[in-house]
Amino acid sequence: MGNHHHHHQHSAAEHDGAAMAELLDLEAEVLHSYLSEVTAWIHELTSDLPPRRILDLGSGTGAGILTLLRRFEEADGIALDVDEHMLHRLGGKARDLGMDHRVRTVQADLDVAWPAVGTVELAWASASLHHMADPDRVLTEVFSSLRPGGLLAVLEMDSLPLPRFLPDDLGLGRPGLEARCRALLAETLADRLPHLDSGWGARLAGAGFAVEAERTFAIDLKPPLPASTGRYAQATLRRIRSGLGDRMSADDLATLDILVDDDGPGSVLRRDDLTVRATRTVWMARRP
Ligand SMILES: C[S@@+](CC[C@H](N)C(=O)[O-])C[C@H]1O[C@@H](n2cnc3c(N)ncnc32)[C@H](O)[C@@H]1O
Repeated sequence: MGNHHHHHQHSAAEHDGAAMAELLDLEAEVLHSYLSEVTAWIHELTSDLPPRRILDLGSGTGAGILTLLRRFEEADGIALDVDEHMLHRLGGKARDLGMDHRVRTVQADLDVAWPAVGTVELAWASASLHHMADPDRVLTEVFSSLRPGGLLAVLEMDSLPLPRFLPDDLGLGRPGLEARCRALLAETLADRLPHLDSGWGARLAGAGFAVEAERTFAIDLKPPLPASTGRYAQATLRRIRSGLGDRMSADDLATLDILVDDDGPGSVLRRDDLTVRATRTVWMARRP
């Protein structure tokens, strides 16, 4: 009985990891114009010291490092993450793109110790610093691994990481479903991820960086949108369903089930009124 239970938990965690990796890939696809705007901006800021080595902290499945390596054709990359599943998937994508000789994956838990990654000219941390137990310590380590004149780009989100996809009135269930989900999520995240939206500019300055710019991107994609938008909305709403399901009303759960279904007529895969609305902020920080 005990063993069975254990096995069950293990595969649920694995499934969760795979679902998260899928979600990150879809996010990269849907938000590609934001990502390429940010890398173009980095390109301008690094003209004096073009990066030869780029470090991606909490790389996930490689949205950042693979975009950067396309932008900086002379550079090699290091993708660092605690999660082997993510890195494995990143390796597969790098191979598909013919870039595997340019990217090295390093499995390391930054809450435990900083790995030996050497010196880099460019570091990138997208939606990863808020996961760290002690982001200030990590920022100090990044500072030490940058060459003087090198740049760190921090991409973070406000207190609610998930985009808004749905109209208030879905023509199904009680209006305001997404707003109610977001309110519940805000409550749980305040406990689980206390560093979300925690004043990264001041933290960067505290670690010795000169903060050269802070820019907020209001992402607002409107229909008609490509099919990947529906899959991204589905993956996000499924994550909400599994994380918050026990705190939602039976009514809202039933509506959510219709939305995340693969086949039904009410599925987000079929809706033509989806949007993607999200706020992201980027800090460009230089090691003097
Ligand atoms: C929200 S994902 C962002 C992934 C990627 N940067 C992107 O923008 O698509 C956060 C990533 O940080 C990684 N991470 C969280 N805590 C970490 C730690 N202590 N050390 C290393 N990586 C960590 C997670 O495994 C995950 O891949």
